[in-house]
Amino acid sequence: MSLYDDKKRVEILKELNAFKKRDFNFSSGHILGSMCTQPHPIAKEVYLKFLETNLGDPELFPGTKEIESKLITFISDLLHAPKTSAGQIVSGGTEGNITAMWIAKQLTRKKEIILADSSHFSFKKIESIMDMKLIKVPLTSDYNMDVSKIKDNINDNTAAILGIAGSTELGTIDPIPELSDICSDENLFLHVDAAFGGYVIPFLKKLDYQVPDFDFKLKGVSTISTDAHKMGYSVISLGTLIIRDEKWLDEISVESPCIGSKRQAGIFGTRSGGPVAAAYAVTRYLGVGGYKKLVENCMNITKYTEEKITDMGLHLITKPTMNVLGVKLKKLPEVVNKLSEYGWKVNKIDHLSCIRIVIMPQITKKIIDEFIPVFRKICKEVGEL
Ligand SMILES: Cc1ncc(COP(=O)(O)O)c(C=O)c1O
Repeated sequence: MSLYDDKKRVEILKELNAFKKRDFNFSSGHILGSMCTQPHPIAKEVYLKFLETNLGDPELFPGTKEIESKLITFISDLLHAPKTSAGQIVSGGTEGNITAMWIAKQLTRKKEIILADSSHFSFKKIESIMDMKLIKVPLTSDYNMDVSKIKDNINDNTAAILGIAGSTELGTIDPIPELSDICSDENLFLHVDAAFGGYVIPFLKKLDYQVPDFDFKLKGVSTISTDAHKMGYSVISLGTLIIRDEKWLDEISVESPCIGSKRQAGIFGTRSGGPVAAAYAVTRYLGVGGYKKLVENCMNITKYTEEKITDMGLHLITKPTMNVLGVKLKKLPEVVNKLSEYGWKVNKIDHLSCIRIVIMPQITKKIIDEFIPVFRKICKEVGEL
């Protein structure tokens, strides 16, 4: 008798498919607000092949462990990490930030984090989980951290400063070179949250866009987190934290009796090698040249979208630095709800009274050409235009 009962299988799949039908999906192109993406085909294929692997017990999976090292090398090179650096695989931007602040707290034995109002909400979790304190610095009119306000907030309790390279709401980049200088002078820990920008800014630079340095070329940068499941064009959930000094990994490691390796670093224990292998496969498939083309395309479509939106008579919150647009709306909830009724998903940012549109790799010009007439019609219906 087969252990895999086909009747049951069909019944379960039917039930689950009914749930899935209610979901939006990236391949439709109608999710316009998310920073996640329809994964590259090679990522999907490889993910399934590595489903059974457990990188929490690397002795059992030395091959997958080596793939992890190769992925870390690719990202470290992209971020100009020094030879002394190390990489820690994380589940995404939230865990990347938590892990970075864990290191900072361990190294400094201090608890205050200086950060901008535009920081990701994961820092509120950090405050709660790690009993740390957030010291907020306002933004400039360009929606970047106001560095002139930092020095006043540095004191004997400062554990770290956060710089954002690709903010969640608008894709803006804080002046990381200035932050790096401050941190070098004051001997402070600087974490760069490049969850979104990590796979964008290096290629914008290669495309001659005027964007500030944000990586380990700056000697004050301590850690950088970057997400493969955002602009890395891979499957959820995967991020990488690159750490300037591999010795700092000791601060977040514990003895791990019972499994092959002596010590285990980071928050997770058991963790799948699937997303790791998938992310590596995309880097192999695309390489630096492929990512550069991808970013170029996203930026061209961002420009196209900006033109279409401003032609409608609407305004952006700020000129897009990367492939993120914040569109000002007076009738924000009405427009967002109607768009959803028409099958389009954008993100609502109440405090800026805007919607966020993110031009991810699956968003084509054709999709924007489908979206704009619906958007215009809705704006007229609700009295926005
Ligand atoms: C700048 C930034 N940091 C961190 C995160 C959190 O990432 P995740 O949801 O993968 O944990 C995000 C998510 O959008 C982000 O934009």
